[in-house]
Amino acid sequence: MIFYFSGTGNSRHAAEFLAGLNGEIVDMAGALREGKLSYMVKNGESVGFVFPVYCGSVGDPIVEFVQKLELKNAGYVYAVITCGAGMGAAGGYLAKLLKVRGITLDNAYPLVMPDNALLYYNIKKASECGEALRSAENQLDQISSRINRREKAQIKGGTKGAIFRKIYLMMLSTKKFCVTDKCIGCGKCESVCPVGAVSLKDGKPVWVKDKCAKCTGCINRCPVQAIQYGKATEKRSRYVYPDLK
Ligand SMILES: Cc1cc2nc3c(=O)[nH]c(=O)nc-3n(C[C@H](O)[C@H](O)[C@H](O)COP(=O)(O)O)c2cc1C
Ligand code: SF4
Ligand code: SF4
Repeated sequence: MIFYFSGTGNSRHAAEFLAGLNGEIVDMAGALREGKLSYMVKNGESVGFVFPVYCGSVGDPIVEFVQKLELKNAGYVYAVITCGAGMGAAGGYLAKLLKVRGITLDNAYPLVMPDNALLYYNIKKASECGEALRSAENQLDQISSRINRREKAQIKGGTKGAIFRKIYLMMLSTKKFCVTDKCIGCGKCESVCPVGAVSLKDGKPVWVKDKCAKCTGCINRCPVQAIQYGKATEKRSRYVYPDLK
């Protein structure tokens, strides 16, 4: 079983790839909304957590899901943390969260993929990411083998991860999101938001919560690039994992 969270499809792709090993995938944001927080796997089964690093740590709603999770019978628990450059202290912070739930994180594997953080700096669009996407497939092959071998490691960084998470928590305001006249009212931004922070009013999106998970799904996945975040994103590319619907 694999629990995943994804804003722009990288982690979703990784979860689907690894599901070839482990079977079922569960969207943590969806499970939270539906209150599905209790899982019993087959005795000794591998359980994975696949999600993007945010500011070197773990973002909402992964934290919220893990804090409420009841998991029984897992034999090997791993994380695959997608990132533009490195997973920082996200593995350590997840290990700390899981420990409170009585679960040991056996390993955390970084998976470098294209960066989606256009709110803060320039990123590449998917068509310019061929090499990075091919490299991700090679990394996934290697990670799969290591998961199959049930490799274990001591996962440190819980304290650093808690500090990094405080930085992430300071960046969650939705104030700078806005929509331009390009909007065609398709509703995609509303449907992809994992935390219900976007709602269509008179055919245009409104950010109805003061804070969100900052997954970048709305701004990256709008089909006509009608969403902006302050002035800086007007000239920046959008990124979505190629196969994501
Ligand atoms: C708010 C935010 C913070 C991020 N912080 C980091 C970071 O600290 N290090 C890093 O390498 N990538 C960082 N990224 C990049 C994403 O982790 C990376 O692109 C990830 O693969 C996106 O996964 P997804 O497509 O499943 O949402 C950040 C992205 C966002 C939106
Ligand atoms: S996804 Fe883009 S075009 Fe569709 S409703 Fe949202 S802002 Fe408008
Ligand atoms: S408002 Fe946009 S960036 Fe924030 S969580 Fe929703 S989809 Fe992600």
